[in-house]
Amino acid sequence: MSSNKKLIVGNWKMNPVTLDEAKKIASKIKRISPTLTSTETVICPPLPFIISCGSRKEVKHFHLGSQSASVEMVRGPHTGEVSAEMLHDIGVEYVIIGHSEQRARGESDVNVAKKIKAVIDAGLSPIVCVGELVRDEAGAYLEVLKNQIKHSLADVPLASVKSIVLAYEPIWAIGAPEPMKNEDIHESSIFVKKVFSDIFGVEAGLKVRVLYGGSVNYRNAPDIISYGKVDGLLVGRESVNSPGFVELLKAVDNIAYK
Ligand code: PGA
Repeated sequence: MSSNKKLIVGNWKMNPVTLDEAKKIASKIKRISPTLTSTETVICPPLPFIISCGSRKEVKHFHLGSQSASVEMVRGPHTGEVSAEMLHDIGVEYVIIGHSEQRARGESDVNVAKKIKAVIDAGLSPIVCVGELVRDEAGAYLEVLKNQIKHSLADVPLASVKSIVLAYEPIWAIGAPEPMKNEDIHESSIFVKKVFSDIFGVEAGLKVRVLYGGSVNYRNAPDIISYGKVDGLLVGRESVNSPGFVELLKAVDNIAYK
């Protein structure tokens, strides 16, 4: 583990449909978060709902995230874009970048790298998603992972590595019936840290937080943390099911760190 706090990130994707529902989910998370002792929560609602899901007063152990940010850093004629600076201004602290669903719609490593830079420059933490499409016997997926990490982080200066969070999400385990096996999660998270160390040095590699994502729910989350030995989770479906997400936070918070 790289930190004694677990980081649980809810990726709401394009859910829910109404602002009213979004506020209801967020308020349940805001109610439970201050009771947590070793867990930090981030919710990433769709852009139109983010500001209403936050809070004027700080809520302990609760943070806002966005599912996207523009590569453009300077305000101006960029129709449809939302800058990292704007997100920062409304209280967002994290931005999910390079999610496989965006990569599948054409987001390249080059674009991912530009977004990471824009997000870091605005003072936010990028949650950089990496993961293989298939896990082949010969281990070619390791090369895929390595290249994704290297190219995505190509523009990050050493001074900014502290803000980076990596999310390992094997694509085949996203939206699936089951998550990846815990021992495989452990192995991949070590590999991801190793590649990170090779780029930024051992000290940075020891400190970087690596999350796991892919079919996490309140039942499997504690074992993924304990036996997968990751620093937190990136949760899709279960993050918009508020009773399940609240249970997940409680269960994860109850894990004693070794
Ligand atoms: P899932 O999604 O938890 O619904 O599998 C995870 C993700 O895509 O981040």
